[in-house]
Amino acid sequence: MPKVFYITTPLYYVNAAPHIGHAYTTLAADILARHKKRKGQSVFFLTGTDEHGANIEKIASQAKVAQTEWVDRVVGQFKNMWAELGIEYDDFIRTTEDRHTRRVQEIFERLHKQGDITLGTYEGLYCLPCENYWDPGDLAPGNKCPVHDRPVETVREASYFFKLSKYQAPLLEYYAAHPEFLAPPRRAKEIINFVQAGLRDLSVSRTQVRWGIPVPFDSKHTIYVWFDALLNYITAAGYGAAEPERFRALWPADVQLVGKEIYRFHTVIWPAMLMALGESLPASVYAHGWWTVEGEKMSKSKGNFVDPLEMKRAYGLDALRYFLFREVSFGEDGNFSQRALQKRYNAELANDLGNLLSRVTQMVEKYLGGRLPPQPSMKSPFLYAEIAKEHKAIDAAMERLAFDQALNKIWEIIGRLNQHINDQAPWAKIKTDREGTEFLLFDLVWCLRMLAGWIAPFMPESASKMEAQLGCGGGPVFKGEALFPRKVFESAESRA
Ligand code: ME8
Ligand code: MG
Repeated sequence: MPKVFYITTPLYYVNAAPHIGHAYTTLAADILARHKKRKGQSVFFLTGTDEHGANIEKIASQAKVAQTEWVDRVVGQFKNMWAELGIEYDDFIRTTEDRHTRRVQEIFERLHKQGDITLGTYEGLYCLPCENYWDPGDLAPGNKCPVHDRPVETVREASYFFKLSKYQAPLLEYYAAHPEFLAPPRRAKEIINFVQAGLRDLSVSRTQVRWGIPVPFDSKHTIYVWFDALLNYITAAGYGAAEPERFRALWPADVQLVGKEIYRFHTVIWPAMLMALGESLPASVYAHGWWTVEGEKMSKSKGNFVDPLEMKRAYGLDALRYFLFREVSFGEDGNFSQRALQKRYNAELANDLGNLLSRVTQMVEKYLGGRLPPQPSMKSPFLYAEIAKEHKAIDAAMERLAFDQALNKIWEIIGRLNQHINDQAPWAKIKTDREGTEFLLFDLVWCLRMLAGWIAPFMPESASKMEAQLGCGGGPVFKGEALFPRKVFESAESRA
């Protein structure tokens, strides 16, 4: 089997329904997957849920339901969300599934046998929502978790340890030899410094937590939720399963997308685990930034979670998908403001793109009866050839996950096409130069077909509508319903 392009998202905790942050990473993976598939590559796109650990245990008990009932409920919300957002994943792995838990136990046992996991005692400062021990030096003032801004707890327990320290030198060598592993490149320095400062062995079992995968040879312990969850990337790919071919076709992953707060887990602990197993490392782990909402960090207590489904109802799915990747450079932090979305909706989607399509299709209907002439002879400048030269730059931006740069380029071209129509004034030209107008419209339709292909990964539904109106399937060109009907928004922005 040839190597498949393998993309992963984090496995999201099932403490609550997904919000715009979870949607963001999953949409990025979807856009990349669609881009690759359009280029003819085979793609495997994995997402899923991280269902064990003390935090989930606590939340289920507060809700007075069994853990299994709780996690099933939230998983339903995630799956529904991905369907609503047009996410075409290939597999959804749950860490409570048998195909995962059995393999995790086998791996734990094997690493114990080979001496990479040993028994000891742990005392540390633990943050429950992070499921992570913090170094005192990394805490925020008041002994608070810097991610969740809440006090950490002192925990002391017997624990199995993973020999992370042993992998300090191999990790540093690996980063140096594979500069594309730490992505985007500006994230590399922090990780290299962290590893250079020295790695301590990692506590990978808990005696206080029942909601987890039992350590197979010591039932007083369950496996630390991160050690369990990280392994999903290989268990879902068929690691240790009966048919090794599937795993060989998928692994190593090509792009592992994560938010910046879990980058260390994915670039230090995870590759060390893979080294211990003798497996290859992913080609790249890419950290993107955080969305804030109307200037504030999203939090339950503030009640300012942006619900992607509400945004979809208000603006349409494609407008939401577009906005998230046009507004902010992938990799940077960004602020989700509905005002900004509304502006972009009317200016860039309704006006720039929507009008371009409706102008061109309307003129082809009116002047040519919806039928494109056969390829005209080349006697005036051929815009299509000019615009096609930009394909390379757009493709390169997509390959770098520079989604905003791809979109900027595409919108620059949309601007050029609108300008060209204004300059050429086909509504006047048709009166004196029928052949020239036919040529112009032919040229424009082909430019728009190319455009539809470029926007398809971001806005699949709009791209299909464009292709239909542009007669891509062999039918006539027609002016259909507006892609993005202009909207009047209330001036006061009440809700986040
Ligand atoms: O960390 N902005 O799960 P999680 C951008 N289970 N992205 C955001 C975001 C925001 N405001 N909020 C969440 C976990 N995300 C672990 C992962 S992997 C083996 C285990 C996205 O539910 C972003 O991708 O807390 C972030 O890394 C992830 O959701 C965290 O999801
Ligand atoms: Mg989190």
